[in-house]
Amino acid sequence: MARTGKVTVVGAGFYGSTTALRLAEYDIFDEVVLTDIVEGKPEGLALDMNQSRPVEGFETKVTGQTTGLAGEGYEAIAGSHIVIVTAGLPRKPGMSRMDLIGVNAKIVRSVAENVVKHAPDAVLIMVSNPLDEMTALAANVTGFPSHQVMGQAGMLDTARFSNFVAERLSVPVGSVRTLTLGSHGDTMVPVPSACTVDGKPLTDLLPAVDIEALVQRTRDGGAEIVKLLKTGSAYYAPSAAAARMARAVAEDSHAVLPVCTWMDGQYGISGVYLGVEAEIGSAGIVRVVERDLSESELASLRAAADAVRTKQADVASL
Ligand code: NAI
Ligand code: 2OP
Repeated sequence: MARTGKVTVVGAGFYGSTTALRLAEYDIFDEVVLTDIVEGKPEGLALDMNQSRPVEGFETKVTGQTTGLAGEGYEAIAGSHIVIVTAGLPRKPGMSRMDLIGVNAKIVRSVAENVVKHAPDAVLIMVSNPLDEMTALAANVTGFPSHQVMGQAGMLDTARFSNFVAERLSVPVGSVRTLTLGSHGDTMVPVPSACTVDGKPLTDLLPAVDIEALVQRTRDGGAEIVKLLKTGSAYYAPSAAAARMARAVAEDSHAVLPVCTWMDGQYGISGVYLGVEAEIGSAGIVRVVERDLSESELASLRAAADAVRTKQADVASL
């Protein structure tokens, strides 16, 4: 099997390390680079992951690299086709993602400056929270064309929605199709009109009040896990989502996935990074894919855009 290319994961915490392992286990890359500012952490994790190769049967090599605050060590990311940025603090119980904006903006700014210096051609997949704002900040700092920068949120929120529907109806998750658009936060827009189970509309299978309860649980999906864990936030489903996005880029798959991307008139929305469906290829976003939304779904998507637009304009000064 041909393995090609290099993918970097910045931040070797729970999200970053799980993502790096998923990418390595795909066995499609030559190399996965994992970096962190904590001395020895990425090197130790990489060593451990490499030692799982004989058991799991993959050849992709994982390289761990500590980076310094002045950018030391970033040479290791040179030539990356994809850089996934997970560096930043996670939430604590009771915190909103927005409470992280000040501290994570400083981290994301410094990471983005080093990415543009050492991997200027990389497709950037942002993960750090608050997601929509950190995606806008990374785009601003790197100056990358908009197709080269995207954020991960919609795949995770959609996966949560699908899981809740499957559990509620006691059906295999594989028979469920759901969709969430909008922001990775209070203005997330689950789209019941796009949801099906074995091809049947979800709206024919559940009363509106039950669908609304699943929609609300999806909106609160991250907080529900933070509350249970007490320290840290979710990482198994989130890392699966980011790794799949990276795979779509690496394989130039043209898959249509819900991602955070720049809006340029689609759905009548412009000038904001927002969660919508987009076709993903080797250079990043190929195009935003518009679908028919109900009037209320479209109104919610436009409201989400208005809510995040102002905050995204502010991040440039953070
Ligand atoms: P974590 O605390 O386990 O790991 C964060 C890592 O970032 C730490 O190892 C830390 O040393 C590292 N770091 C801090 N500054 C850095 C820098 N300048 N360069 C490189 N590494 C740096 O947190 P976890 O669980 O991995 O979450 C990471 C981020 O992802 C958080 O902001 C969290 O809110 C976000 N997240 C986003 C989701 C999404 O759907 N977009 C879902 C889940 C988490
Ligand atoms: C999540 O949704 C905290 O954004 C993170 O799990």
